[in-house]
Amino acid sequence: MGETAHDRGFRTPVKKVLSLTAPLEGVTIKGWVRTIRRGKGVTFIELNDGSCLKSLQVVLSTDLENYEEASRCGTGACLSVTGDLVPSPAAGQNWELQSRSATVLGAADSDYPLQKKRHSFEYLRTIAHLRGRSNTFGAVFRIRSALAFAVHRFFQERGFLYVHTPIITANDCEGAGELFRVTTLPPKDPPLTDGGHVDWQQDFFGEKTGLTVSGQLQGELFATAFSDIYTFGPTFRAENSNTSRHASEFWMIEPEMAFADLAADCALAEDFLRWLVTYALENCAEDLTFFNERIEPGLITRLEALAKAQFSTMTYTEAVERLEKSGRTFEFPVAWGNDLQAEHERYLTEEVVGGPVFITDYPADIKAFYMRLNDDGRTVAAMDLLVPRVGEIIGGSQREERSDVLVQRMRKAGISPESLSWYLDIRRWGSCPHAGFGLGFERFLMYITGMENIRDVIPFPRTPDNARF
Ligand code: 4AD
Ligand code: MG
Repeated sequence: MGETAHDRGFRTPVKKVLSLTAPLEGVTIKGWVRTIRRGKGVTFIELNDGSCLKSLQVVLSTDLENYEEASRCGTGACLSVTGDLVPSPAAGQNWELQSRSATVLGAADSDYPLQKKRHSFEYLRTIAHLRGRSNTFGAVFRIRSALAFAVHRFFQERGFLYVHTPIITANDCEGAGELFRVTTLPPKDPPLTDGGHVDWQQDFFGEKTGLTVSGQLQGELFATAFSDIYTFGPTFRAENSNTSRHASEFWMIEPEMAFADLAADCALAEDFLRWLVTYALENCAEDLTFFNERIEPGLITRLEALAKAQFSTMTYTEAVERLEKSGRTFEFPVAWGNDLQAEHERYLTEEVVGGPVFITDYPADIKAFYMRLNDDGRTVAAMDLLVPRVGEIIGGSQREERSDVLVQRMRKAGISPESLSWYLDIRRWGSCPHAGFGLGFERFLMYITGMENIRDVIPFPRTPDNARF
């Protein structure tokens, strides 16, 4: 690695120092104290700067001018240390830093909440402003960052155009009524129509608006100009479900391909997931090893198998038959026409298939209006990808490109065609078969880290009753 801005009188990241193969004099490290042990005539500090899981051992000798101050800076303090990197006699580490000078940039009170012991994830959520300084959350957020980059790389290398779809929107793409309202009308006495309803025409945008639940509809518009496109951005859902896999604000990746059918859509989803998993195995080995040891034993073997596996496919109708024949009693009844619940999804992916499975061709009545109606007239070209432990990780479909069928489906779903005239326009002028899907980035991170709660893979989770930090 060449000299970087970090090296030039600034600081050297711990990750870089730990990868050195020869001793080095005069190196400056800055970071936060994980542990501090004052011994006789010497103090040992584990200094971590978040660049990697490991901390660097810093040795403070009593010769330091400010030894008293530095050796009592406290767990959590921020230090800058300059010294020489020498081979460490201690087990489990190659190098330690013999300090020549140390500056306490920010001392820490003794009530610093992240002391060296195991804390529960529930507790760590209450100190989300600090949890990035723990091993687990350091690893989670490094993987999150690496995989966000990987998402872009996958699509950019394949010629997909990245489109920024709007956050504020007047349409509810999924039609589930889960929009967070965006308004500047006074909550107390909003202007009313003659009929006594809130007069949204007088609102900021001159109509009723909210935060987007999906960038898909605008993504489709771009696919009919740029062929292959993707979005990657925050989405918002005001669904009041307090589960370990629902967040009110989450990030979604939504590719959309012109000239693609459902089979091509599934093929892209499969390639994408396998590619991301392979990327993580190759580029995030230290953090994955940590998850493998501390969070989910067998994780790496599972991911390696996934990177090579062929995903299974099963129609919804077949899935219902399998569930009916299972001999299980589920909390929610199984019947053709009912949506699959988390318990059904997990049974299918964990017990029937034992791996990822696409469920395709759902009943039209339980899926969104934009999905293409199959020739049987009662199912749509939809797919959900289910994976063990997490359940649904991807939802996608071939889109209805036939204007007349689409209008009928909208009417049936209670959506006025006028309100989506621009969406219908692309069916009038150069319509084409197209398909896409949405991958929930947090669900994917749960799958790849073994973390069991969505609140623990997003920096500052938003869930019902919680928007702290
Ligand atoms: O199945 P969904 O609702 O599909 C769509 O939004 C389509 N417009 C996607 C498309 O075809 N372009 O959501 C897609 C994925 C789900 O499979 C799930 O992984 C994730 O988004 N997801 C959530 N993740 C966290 N919290 C929530 N409340 C989620 N709702 C959906
Ligand atoms: Mg879905």
